[in-house]
Amino acid sequence: DKAGHKHFMAKEIAEQPVVVAEAIQSYLPSGGDTITLPCELDFCKLDRLTMVACGTAFYACLTAKYWFEQLARLPVEVDIASEFRYREPPIPERTAALFVSQSGETADTLAALRYCEGKADKIVSVINVPESSIARESDIALPIHAGVEIGVASTKAFTCQLSVLLMLALKAAADRGTLSDEELIDHTAALRGLPTALNAALDQNQSIKASAQRLSEARDVLFLGRGLMYPLAMEGALKLKEISYIHAEGYASGELKHGPIALIDKHMPVVVMAPRDAVFDKTVSNMQEVMARKGKVILVSDDDGVAEAEDGVWSTIRMPRIHPSLAPILYSVPAQLLAYHTAVAKGTDVDQPRNLAKSVTVE
Ligand code: F6R
Repeated sequence: DKAGHKHFMAKEIAEQPVVVAEAIQSYLPSGGDTITLPCELDFCKLDRLTMVACGTAFYACLTAKYWFEQLARLPVEVDIASEFRYREPPIPERTAALFVSQSGETADTLAALRYCEGKADKIVSVINVPESSIARESDIALPIHAGVEIGVASTKAFTCQLSVLLMLALKAAADRGTLSDEELIDHTAALRGLPTALNAALDQNQSIKASAQRLSEARDVLFLGRGLMYPLAMEGALKLKEISYIHAEGYASGELKHGPIALIDKHMPVVVMAPRDAVFDKTVSNMQEVMARKGKVILVSDDDGVAEAEDGVWSTIRMPRIHPSLAPILYSVPAQLLAYHTAVAKGTDVDQPRNLAKSVTVE
């Protein structure tokens, strides 16, 4: 049942304020500022984290690396499951292995988990299907509460994965004493406001659709972001290529001049994910390098960011202001809607893109 939407993907994008609220509520019960997990996990007993996943779940892990390292000062390695399992990396003592999977059945992720059995101190998974193989074979399985996801392109599972991973990083920060009480409360208050912000992002649907109309003419699209927005740039590119079949790449803004800038000309749209955060000015200067070469910039930012940097851009998408730590969750909405409307404009099969399966149970 698409609940009045044209596609499951549209329905699942629209559901995000509700399912993200459920995910937050289940780890951050009302009335408190303490993150509560369904099972015991003490981050004081850990010196590092190894995170493993595929595809969109891998980008959730890459985002979480910034959170665990910055908020909890916990070193994190992130790997693609198909690489991890055959590289057979050494797992040092006091390491937890964390697997992220919507389906809980991805063959490479499951094999990577089995490789860590008996090697890692704890096997933790962040899953959407509690009765899945990955959940069953973990010491601790943390549900993301996204509900059934039908669209092949993952949307609400991604934002729920991010929400749970951020809360896990906050729990790590609390255990390890790396954030002050005020900083922790700042984060939990921002998390409680996230569903409202997601609704405000969804309200930008028409302006995102207008930008997507322009993207649908492109042959290649570049997504740029810095810091927490870098993994999201890759996720935005993955979403676009999956369902619209337009070639897209996500790059760290700072890497632009190390190669991809050679691609920029008047035919190249560049989506710049840039909330007005600590690295905003750097991202804007990369964006100006794109415009100087006639690249067509779609700037996704908040009111302050747009006011400061919109000169000369091709189009803008306005997001509400948000705590910088939460920006990748909020900016997932324009990334998803850009891909969605571009695919609809091109007339591709949004829910069942060619050559793709919802769950990759063979390697
Ligand atoms: C992209 C997408 C895939 C999955 C990947 C992992 O939109 O859905 O990249 O994220 O196949 O799947 P799970 O999370 O089920 O392990």
